[in-house]
This record gives sequence, C-alpha cells and structure tokens, in this order.
Amino acid sequence: MNDLDSLVEAAQAAFAAAATPAELENAKARFLGKTGRVTELLKSLAALDADARRARGAEINAVKQRVEASLQARRQALADAELEQQLRAQALDVTLPGRRRGSGGLHPVSRTMERIEAIFGSMGFDVAEGPEIENDWFNFTALNTPADHPARSMHDTFYVEGGHLLRTHTSPMQVRHAVQHVKRHAGHDTMPEIRVIAPGRTYRVDSDATHSPMFHQCEGLWIGENVSFKDLKAVFADFFRHFFETDDLAIRFRPSFFPFTEPSAEVDIAFPSGPLRGRWLEVAGSGQVHPNVVRNFGLDPERWIGFAFGMGPDRLTMLRYGIGDLRLFYDNDLRFLSQFE
Ligand code: PHE
Repeated sequence: MNDLDSLVEAAQAAFAAAATPAELENAKARFLGKTGRVTELLKSLAALDADARRARGAEINAVKQRVEASLQARRQALADAELEQQLRAQALDVTLPGRRRGSGGLHPVSRTMERIEAIFGSMGFDVAEGPEIENDWFNFTALNTPADHPARSMHDTFYVEGGHLLRTHTSPMQVRHAVQHVKRHAGHDTMPEIRVIAPGRTYRVDSDATHSPMFHQCEGLWIGENVSFKDLKAVFADFFRHFFETDDLAIRFRPSFFPFTEPSAEVDIAFPSGPLRGRWLEVAGSGQVHPNVVRNFGLDPERWIGFAFGMGPDRLTMLRYGIGDLRLFYDNDLRFLSQFE
C-alpha cells in the first residue's frame, strides 16, 4: 500500500471514529485544514519540477477527493443517526389503549333534583334558592313556631355562632320567597299567584341508614285567592306519576301536625305492583298554610290561601332506584355513584 492510500485509510478511520459532528470537524481539520496532512502534501508540490508536479498533483487531488467524499459520507451518516434517534425518542405506540379522562356524571340525588325541577316547572312552578345558614326568624318564628314552642324539639338543630343555625328544613324559603314576591308586586292592583319550589340542603343532628345530618328537601308553595287541598292533591298526583313514570300508584293523605300548616297531612305513596308493592311510604309533609304564616308573607289571610309541602329528594331517589341505605349517597364511592351515569 503506498503512502497516499494509507493516508486515505487514516482519514477514513478518523472520520469513522468521530462520534459527533464536532469530533468530525476536528478530524477534518487534521486532514483538510490549513496544516492538515492533505494540505501539506499539496504544499510539497512546489518543490517538484513541472512534469513530476502534474503527475503527483493529479494523485494528490484524487486523494483529496476521496478524503472529502469520506468526510461527506460520515457527515451524512451522523445526521441520519441523529434524526433516527430523535424519531425513536418521540415514537408513539399507537397500539396502546388511550388514557381516558374519567367521564363525570351527575350524583343520583342531583338527578332527582333536576327531575323535580323539570316536573314542577312544567306545572308552572318557579324555582327559588336561599341560604343554608338561616336565622331563627325564618327557620322557626315566622313559621308560627315561637321560641318556647314544643315543635322546635322535633328538629335537632345545629346552631352556629352569631345566633344563626343550619336550616332544619326548606320551609324558611316559603317566607323568604313570598315576602320578595309581595314586595315585587306592591302597589299593583293585582298580584300573580305564588307558585314556587325551593330545593336544597337541610341539616339535622341525626344519622342512621335512613337519616343523614345533611339531607335534601324540596319545598313547595302555592298561594292564590282560590287554592285548595284539591289542588294540592292534583299537584301531588301529577308529580308522583311523572316522577316514578307510572300511573299505577296510590296517594294517601294522613292527618299530621306542623305549626305552619293547618290542617296538616303527611303524604304517603304505595305501588300496587313491583318490588315495593303493598307498603305505604312516607314521601312528604304538607298542609294549608297557617294564617299566621300568610300574615308573615305580608298578605291578608282572609284573601290569600294555599298550601305548602316539603318532600325528601333523598327518599325519592332511594325509592326510584331501590336503594336501601341513604349513607351510600354520601360515601362518595365511585363504584356506587358511577352506576347512575
Ligand atoms: N318542613 C316540614 C318538615 O321538614 C315539611 C313541611 C313543609 C310540612 C311544608 C308542611 C308544609 O318536616
């Protein structure tokens, strides 16, 4: 092997040994740079006479071209490898199952609330909302339940600082809403009927399979100049038939007592067929609004009359889905909750 061939081999080896573009440029300098070995060879031509220079010059140029070709090939190889590496780093395995975001769903009690609002909405009831931290006036006194009234002990009340309490029922919304309604129509010749429901959270010191310290109620109030128990019955019949999606359902009014209604009735329903067949289930309290309460609405009880009711959406949810333990609703176990999505 002559000296020129071995020079080409040395260059090829040096380029092959370069692992990065920077190392490759260093190797290039050693052969093709200002004092590189190929350059030195070219400089040495000056010492030769014309004929020898032409012959030797052609040989050296051929060497230079081979070295440059080898350099170029290595550059390309390094660039290819780099690209390859990048692609591999960013590789996607499109056969992997996707990571799905868990899809959320409405809580079963929220579904019931929406159902209640939709059904009463179709009967012309507005929906009102109010505070869960109440004062004594709205929760008790305005509802014909003065401070020493024994009915107060029917509610095991959570008291909070500042003389406030957690509302024990949604009935305070009767007064809050009616007072607003009356104010809004003050000074007009006529006042439209009050027809409203007020769903929301309520609180009592109570906890077992069918009672939770936080539970839900939906209040209803219909006040007009000619509203009677007959209308209450019709409203309940319509509501429960729609809610449970069956006409096969019996409704019973059982005499009861609430300070804010007179007469008062507890409302029971029974399904003649199906899993709950034969049992009467209590679903609401109701009654004709007591004259004292109508007065607290700011209305004349000689002229304005109507009924109120309060029902339990938790209970309705249990009946609709056949759930025996109320606490399941509040444990937040997704295995339970996701069944309602
Ligand atoms: N507020 C009563 C309760 O919580 C229910 C009720 C509402 C009764 C309206 C009559 C009228 O038990």
